Amino acid sequence: MNISVIGVGHVGLVTAACLAKLGHRVIGVDQDKERIRLLKGGDIPFHEPGLEEMVRANLKEGKLSFTGDMKVGVRESEVIFIAVGTPSLPNGEPDLSFVEAVSRDVASHMDEYKVIVEKSTVPVMTGDWVKRVIERSLSKGIGFDVVSNPEFLREGSAVEDFLKPDRIVIGIESERAEGIMRRLYEPLKAPILVTDIKSAELIKHASNSFLALKISYINGIARICEKVGADVVEVARGMGLDHRIGSSYLQAGVGYGGFCLPKDVDAFIKLAEGVGYDFELLKACRMINISQRRWILEKLKESLWILKDKTIGILGLSFKPDTDDIRDSVSISIIDSLKKEGAKVKAFDPAAMENAKRVLKDVEYCSCPYEVSKGADALLILTEWKDFKDLDLKRVRREMKEPLLIDGRNLFDPKEMEKLRFTYISVGR
Ligand code: UGA
Repeated sequence: MNISVIGVGHVGLVTAACLAKLGHRVIGVDQDKERIRLLKGGDIPFHEPGLEEMVRANLKEGKLSFTGDMKVGVRESEVIFIAVGTPSLPNGEPDLSFVEAVSRDVASHMDEYKVIVEKSTVPVMTGDWVKRVIERSLSKGIGFDVVSNPEFLREGSAVEDFLKPDRIVIGIESERAEGIMRRLYEPLKAPILVTDIKSAELIKHASNSFLALKISYINGIARICEKVGADVVEVARGMGLDHRIGSSYLQAGVGYGGFCLPKDVDAFIKLAEGVGYDFELLKACRMINISQRRWILEKLKESLWILKDKTIGILGLSFKPDTDDIRDSVSISIIDSLKKEGAKVKAFDPAAMENAKRVLKDVEYCSCPYEVSKGADALLILTEWKDFKDLDLKRVRREMKEPLLIDGRNLFDPKEMEKLRFTYISVGR
């Protein structure tokens, strides 16, 4: 099938490359000329395991191409995915102006029936709006269908998530579009759930918010574990074995970050408010998440008292492993607080250093974790990169001024750390 994906950011590019891998002919469209230039040469502007190889292979086979020309994208495709950004407005609502502008643009180039798919994370009712905008801008007599097809891709494993999905959700109004969407995803042999458009839109919001809830729930449990002397890892294991609960998203830590969960929780609270429902549960989820960020600073102060002029080593800058994304990263906000207290900060991340350098200037960026440890009064682990799990801890300890390690991701066994003579503080243990 001929497909175009408008907006080749994280979600759009993964979608475009994976659809090409499934055998479709895909055009990625973006107004960012520099991005298109890079992509045409097979270069990926962010870190996502497996993506670069896939883009290059499909470019070579001629199944994937990139253009800045919307007309080409629209005219040559039967299905058009809208995957442009929906950043948060200051009041927590998503900014849908890109979605609106692209819908209008798509309509202006349409010359025959097309299926227009919302892939961007959008609030319920957006499908209706997209339909109205297209209707208004379209020449009479041209048919189209709007489909909601939310993505459930995690950064760092987005390619795998696309190719082996738990489910594909398709919100649809016409049988014609349903047939086209089923054909498009047929090669994946994955379960397909067909709903109305609004339900599909809500599935995305409800799913992301539920994941955030699970994380905040276990972080709340972690606080209680600390008070009573229990181990949150064991508690989570015991809970997770119950298949009604499940073990994923029960890892206690410094809280959820990234470009999706925090923004989507905010947007869902706003959306609920807009329809007259006070979603108190999600507000509590958000509060717990904010307090986890404070927790680590409190622990640090309990051990070091004054932070001014102390050297604090930071391991991990991205909001989670296997990505260079630092948007709403817990690490970045903690470093910000440390700087405000007058601490000297040294940091290392396997992938996110360049992005961090752009937003945090007054930080000593190191070439490896051992350099970070050198002379440090404390070391904070804020992202669970595998490289950190495999650290030579004896060497880390030798390098440090004080052997204080605060592990915001519970990477190590407290007993082992005691044997290694660390003052080891982890979450909920
Ligand atoms: C999330 C969802 O998981 C995807 O399904 C969704 O498609 C995506 O948002 C989106 O809306 O685009 P992502 O933001 O890439 O994906 O990251 P997650 O892997 O879900 O992790 C989010 C945050 O939660 C990270 O900071 C992570 O460290 C934290 N986390 C996750 C925990 O603290 N504990 C856990 O048990 C799991």
